[in-house]
Amino acid sequence: MDISKLLKSSFIEPEDYVDKKKMHPASYIKYGFSINDQIESAKIYMTALGVYIGYLNDERLGNQVLMPGYTDYNYRVQYQEYDVTEKISIGENKISAVLGNGWYRGSVGIGSKMNCYGTKVKFSAAIVIKYKNGTEQIISSSKDWKVSQDGPLRENDLKIREIYDAAKKISNWHNAVPAEYNGEVIAQEGELVLEHEHFKPTVLYTPNGETVLDFGQNLAGYVHFKIKNGKAGHKLKLTMGETLDENGNFTMKNLAAEGASLISGEVGQELIYIAKNGEQTYKPFFHVCGFRYVKVENWCEEIKAENFESVAVYSDIKAAGSFKCSNKLINQLVSNVKWSQKSNFVDIPGDCPTRERVGWTGDVSVFCETACYLTDPRKFMKKWFADYMLEQGDDGSLPYVIPQGGYSPQQRSCCAWSDAIANISAVFYKFYGDKEHLSYVYDCVKNFIEFEIKRAKKRNVLTRTHNGSHRKYIIETGFHYGEWLEPTRPMYKDFIKDLFYPDTEVTTAWFYQTALQLSQMAEILDKTEDAKKYRVLSDNIKTAYHKEFLKDGKVKSKRQCRFVRPLFMGLVDTEQGKIIAKDLNEICIKNDYKIGTGFHTTYKILSVLCDYGYIDTAYKMLENTKQPGWLYEVTKGATTTWENWNGIDENNIPRDSHNHYAPGAVVAWLFSYCAGIRPLKPGFDEILIKPYVGGTLTFAEAEYNSVKGKIISAWKRNENKYKFDITIPDGVKARIVLPNGNEQEVVGDRHVFECEVS
Ligand code: BGC
Repeated sequence: MDISKLLKSSFIEPEDYVDKKKMHPASYIKYGFSINDQIESAKIYMTALGVYIGYLNDERLGNQVLMPGYTDYNYRVQYQEYDVTEKISIGENKISAVLGNGWYRGSVGIGSKMNCYGTKVKFSAAIVIKYKNGTEQIISSSKDWKVSQDGPLRENDLKIREIYDAAKKISNWHNAVPAEYNGEVIAQEGELVLEHEHFKPTVLYTPNGETVLDFGQNLAGYVHFKIKNGKAGHKLKLTMGETLDENGNFTMKNLAAEGASLISGEVGQELIYIAKNGEQTYKPFFHVCGFRYVKVENWCEEIKAENFESVAVYSDIKAAGSFKCSNKLINQLVSNVKWSQKSNFVDIPGDCPTRERVGWTGDVSVFCETACYLTDPRKFMKKWFADYMLEQGDDGSLPYVIPQGGYSPQQRSCCAWSDAIANISAVFYKFYGDKEHLSYVYDCVKNFIEFEIKRAKKRNVLTRTHNGSHRKYIIETGFHYGEWLEPTRPMYKDFIKDLFYPDTEVTTAWFYQTALQLSQMAEILDKTEDAKKYRVLSDNIKTAYHKEFLKDGKVKSKRQCRFVRPLFMGLVDTEQGKIIAKDLNEICIKNDYKIGTGFHTTYKILSVLCDYGYIDTAYKMLENTKQPGWLYEVTKGATTTWENWNGIDENNIPRDSHNHYAPGAVVAWLFSYCAGIRPLKPGFDEILIKPYVGGTLTFAEAEYNSVKGKIISAWKRNENKYKFDITIPDGVKARIVLPNGNEQEVVGDRHVFECEVS
């Protein structure tokens, strides 16, 4: 039985009329069928262009949330399978579903654009029953299925609002209309989105007289509440926000993009619940919000903490690593980063769970190494990669938000963001040694580089004029976000400037890195000619970069990013690197060990400082508690990582999203430098343990479940004596490099070393 085909031909449309501007009520779908014989097995398959929850005999199917998940619906949609063998009974049965807007028709991205994939939601289901007598029965959705929009879920949107009228009975059932879907229906490919941790609140009474629940942890999810004694028709409201303002009052202000509130669109995050009589509980059907605080309005009885809980909702990805050390603030930072990953890995790797909630490619590109140390994201990312490739233009261009819904097809090929597919694949190869993945993405990366080669030949009259033969390796056209969000450069100023004058240092460096990564992929896949061609290309871009952006091999800038980028990308050799790293160290010290980098170099600054021996500076930057710095936000009580270093500024004014994982990508440094766990060969075929000790730390300990088994690297300091306790998986070779320079080759087992570090 080809389930994909069956579901593709069984789509129905439950609505006969839609007003594109409205936030629609949910559709209810039902169908009764009878079973007259003994069953061997019974399975239900369901999918939707929208979001659905399915039921058999009024019992919910499965425990996942936001089915069928987010794919580019122009091309494909997943279906889910439910084994109901034990749940179906001889006699009358009923299959039913609630169908909401989800990403298909609901608000998506900045501006909260609606109807990104279609204006009418669609649904498809099939029941496949095998009888003990050897026969098979197939029932699938058709015009005979009953549908209604007159049920309790009056409005639904992932982001803006859900309105539920608990007393309302479903009425006005009518027949569905068969519908067509041109995309592919595929089996569940990604991880399931499930409910995870639950938190109880404390009740706050804020200075402006409002009642606010503080759940103690910022997260993506919803509130599950209980009303002991409701009165029919009483309208209650919950608003979900991330923080309190400078006066201790509830606020949503930080959820509009800085300087761009006009384009930010409605964030909403509101739940309106119209009670019925008596005891009742509710949790949203299709409304997942980013929040820690909840403003409660017009509650119908005393607001008691015991009647509320927040429920974290995210993709069910296996944990892989843990890290702890003697600095409690760093441990809290690690916890914050884990929570930002959870909140933003909700079916797609997103940017934030509030304002936009979309797959900004640059965010996960900088974060992917951290994601690989903390978790095993391969299955989760596989589904997203497939959309990445489907959305490539015929000219090789790539979007910078994937799936692209809500962002115009012109929003393409932004350096660093669109390069993410190459960068993430290179990290994946390092961690998992999987050649199959490389060959899967190879053509996409190659087509993109061919697009970049053509683009680099075009000139932009508004940018600085680059002269000489190397000009054809400098990308100066197209829209690029540049380094993005350096502490001294506000978001909107960067945006406006980059609209007209792309930062060619950034674009050219990324052109280089992706060309180099492509040549390395070609080499691994035995594509000798391509390997050579793109190696030559990367060498030429490197030469152009030197001519244009370095003066006698030196960086002339006060911006930290200008030093970090050539160092981590290998745009300079070791000797030149020494000069650049020395200057970087000096500007970091001058800056009082505060971070000065933006989105695209923050995750590498500590590594390059350590690579060139400035370990003391790296630790001082990490442990700096002043703004801007990673630990500043921890001292301000953050429980997730902020988008901007001034998420709560010196006047306690909250700004921008409080749940962006990109700046938290420093966690990869804790694993790979502080504890020193790194793959020496792809897929941890050989391991390097090279801890960098320092700062105020008296101990650090990391565990990582690699594809070859568990690796542990722990160290303890006593005065200037250090003890290292290292465990390597059985049969795997490792090189251990201690901070005093001693090197050991070991195979498997636990190894303990001591050394002095002055
Ligand atoms: C998003 C980012 C994203 C950026 C592009 C923002 O609005 O939230 O995280 O990468 O736009 O610069």
